[in-house]
Amino acid sequence: MRILKLGLLLALFSGFTAILIYINEFFNHDENHQLSREDWDALQSLQSGFQKCVSANGLGLQAITGKNYCQVTLSYPSDTDSKWRDPKTGELEGLLFEFNLCEEVATWEQVRNSTTILTREFIDALPNGWEEYAWRRINKGILLNNCKNKALCVEKLSLVLPETPPYVPRQFGRCAVIGNSGDLLKTRFGKEIDSYDVVIRENGAPIENYTEYVGKKSSFRLLNRGSAKALDKVVELDETRQEVLIIKTTIHDIMNRMIREIPIRNPVYLMLGASFGSAAKGTGLKALEFALSVCDSVDMYGFTVDPGYKEWTRYFSESRKGHTPLHGRAYYQLIECLGLIKIHSPIRADPNRVVKWVPSRRTIKAARIASEKLLRRVGAGSEDLLASCSIVKKQVKRKHMSVPRLRKAAVDHQKFVKGTTMYPLEHSSGHGHLCTVPVD
Ligand SMILES: *[C@@H]1O[C@H](CO)[C@@H](O)[C@H](O)[C@H]1NC(C)=O
Ligand SMILES: *[C@@H]1O[C@H](CO)[C@@H](O)[C@H](O)[C@H]1NC(C)=O
Repeated sequence: MRILKLGLLLALFSGFTAILIYINEFFNHDENHQLSREDWDALQSLQSGFQKCVSANGLGLQAITGKNYCQVTLSYPSDTDSKWRDPKTGELEGLLFEFNLCEEVATWEQVRNSTTILTREFIDALPNGWEEYAWRRINKGILLNNCKNKALCVEKLSLVLPETPPYVPRQFGRCAVIGNSGDLLKTRFGKEIDSYDVVIRENGAPIENYTEYVGKKSSFRLLNRGSAKALDKVVELDETRQEVLIIKTTIHDIMNRMIREIPIRNPVYLMLGASFGSAAKGTGLKALEFALSVCDSVDMYGFTVDPGYKEWTRYFSESRKGHTPLHGRAYYQLIECLGLIKIHSPIRADPNRVVKWVPSRRTIKAARIASEKLLRRVGAGSEDLLASCSIVKKQVKRKHMSVPRLRKAAVDHQKFVKGTTMYPLEHSSGHGHLCTVPVD
């Protein structure tokens, strides 16, 4: 009898707290009344699924939920040896990192359907594209006086500016993004890496002498400013000279000269991209963004901070400064648990490892839609596929798709979007797209 009473009390109490939590949530978000009960449920189920996934795969990482359905903090075990010091403050990197799950799910899901290569049609379609945007992609562009001499700007960009996107979403099947971590030398991933359809590398990462560990294949290379200036050295890293080079910053006169005079025959492009939160910086992340915009599936190698790591090193050189290894690692765990990538590392070396407890596609889709509403993204909650296009430009297709035979997944996607190209509008608050729509 006493137990029954106790049970009843407990039930009452938990019911009451549930109501309190609900009311609390409701008032916290009363500006977002357009979110339905299903939307809140979707966010909640993403958060709890995510939490399970992090504990099951996170190398001791735990996800602590915050005061709403978007906030999560990833925490490393307290005995983790933080080694990286902020050069500015001299402080050691912490063990707790806060993320906004809603921002992340909304932004990354958009990347899957976006074009991430800068094209001529993009600049032409952008209002004042030449005056206000083009010069930002040219080194010392500020001296170009808002491209008053447009011909000069066109010329400077011409070698890296295709007319239309060279790639479409899902054009490639299985892709591997290879980081530069010293941990790569602990496992012979070479053969496994070469089995991917596409391999994406970063900056000055060598292949020769390391193929056992990093493979031979190389399809794309993402370059930061420093590496891009040494373009002549970079092209030598890939024997086949077929690697496509993608620069995340600006085009330099030095580069233009090298491309013309050496000559460099590799395709060279500039990258466009979504604006992510503070955690998301660096070439590795850009490489992932590019991969997710053109591949069906994306696997990562060489980005690890496994337990017991001593110091962040590169596989081909001594340790280097300027990294936030624990923060970065937590962030990659986050995107793994959003079902976007799979991380391979020395202690996760089984190629058939399944990422446990990844939230289902259905949960992620519902949570993405709810997040878009919550964050007031352009076109949130609409069934219309062009709803997120804040700028729409009709485009007479000059020539047929330069890609001869597209994979079925890519063709299906093209049908779904009716041939629309969606470019992310960088730094725009609602994360809208510039869309080019084909007309006959
Ligand atoms: C590979 O090793 C050889 C012999 O040690 C060396 O000459 C060459 O520069 C190395 N290549 C790279 C890319 O490190
Ligand atoms: C991206 O495109 C697919 C179809 O290929 C669609 O199912 C999905 O909802 C789209 N995602 C977003 C964020 O619009």
